[in-house]
Amino acid sequence: MAARRKILSVVGTRPNFMKTAPVVGELGRRPDRFEHVLVHTGQHYDDAMSRVFFEELGVGEPDHMLGVGSGSHAQQTARVIERLEPVLLAEEPDVVLVPGDVNSTMAAALVAVKLDIPVGHIEAGLRSFDRSMPEETNRIVADAVADLLFIHSPEARDNLLREGRPASGIHDVGNTMIDTLVAMREHIEATGAPIDYDLEPGSYLVVTLHRPALVDGSLLAETVDQLRGVAAEMPVVFPAHPRTRAAMEALGLEAGDPGLRITEPLGYLEFLGLVAAAAGVLTDSGGIQEETTFLGIPCFTLRDNTERPITCELGTNTLLGLDPTRIGDVPAALRTAAGRPHRALPGWDGHAAQRIVDVLAAARLPARSGRAPAPAA
Ligand code: UD1
Repeated sequence: MAARRKILSVVGTRPNFMKTAPVVGELGRRPDRFEHVLVHTGQHYDDAMSRVFFEELGVGEPDHMLGVGSGSHAQQTARVIERLEPVLLAEEPDVVLVPGDVNSTMAAALVAVKLDIPVGHIEAGLRSFDRSMPEETNRIVADAVADLLFIHSPEARDNLLREGRPASGIHDVGNTMIDTLVAMREHIEATGAPIDYDLEPGSYLVVTLHRPALVDGSLLAETVDQLRGVAAEMPVVFPAHPRTRAAMEALGLEAGDPGLRITEPLGYLEFLGLVAAAAGVLTDSGGIQEETTFLGIPCFTLRDNTERPITCELGTNTLLGLDPTRIGDVPAALRTAAGRPHRALPGWDGHAAQRIVDVLAAARLPARSGRAPAPAA
């Protein structure tokens, strides 16, 4: 009988939780083959940014909380590196799994590879080709050191091969974030989220904006101004990330008007409940471009580029550019976008985690040495 494998997942931020939850569930269904350990770096720490997702997704409490919190990129990355190393030395996992492209992802991948532990990267191979995005560096570094590259989009394979990653390490498993959406669909619909916000299904715009390029600079004031203009035409609901809210408060932009509703960050079910019944979504998020593609909801992305081009080619996504003046075009675009077909994407089917766990079961892994490598100096 094959030996039981110990898999350790590292999560840190909101989108990580949705990408990892189905893998945790699937590993739990195969206890004869796997033991699982969950580490939360604490990059996101507010209840609304973290705890609510663990509760809703049924992931259970993390086994280790690193409590790294906020800070500069260097501080956050360094804290994960320093605090994760003793955990990996104590747990001695056979594989470390990291999802997505946040600072916690890159930091955890580095710690594992330095300890000679195989790394699996969920959502490998995405590229925006924009090095000014911190996430692009995180993706490139994680993919450069990962042994198991779990992809969910065809161009990811090309990107990885171009960077010299071996074809044998690339596994087209599909999209675990969509697994969560499929698994939670009934609960999402049951929230009745639009009614709670007194919104008529199909009539309103959902907005999420949190990227530094948009919210930390001079573009934010124009963005809020434009959203007020849209709100005169259709209701706008804007669950604001803490970073965005802080930036708005600093500029005195908080005061809304009846059509523009700025809320606290929402939980997973309530947020997707709003998105699934929206006329459209305006965002700078990565994951939401995919969720709207799956749901067939028109999405307008306020960025110059996307690491998820398939959402524009086959899905419902339109790149507006990093140009808030384009926000005013959204209501008219929505009138023509309604009914635009979108295609089901292969592997975005609710079974990606099963395929990842199949790979983890079959992968040839080096034997665990059980000893820490010698100190670097
Ligand atoms: C991070 C990721 C980004 C991802 C996003 C998802 C990096 C570089 N960025 O961005 O790729 O799209 O998560 O949400 O890893 N804050 C709180 N409470 C929290 C978390 C954050 O108040 O629970 C505030 C703090 O002021 C913090 C700021 O938000 O400084 C930014 O948080 P941080 O985790 O550094 O980056 P995000 O903008 O959330």
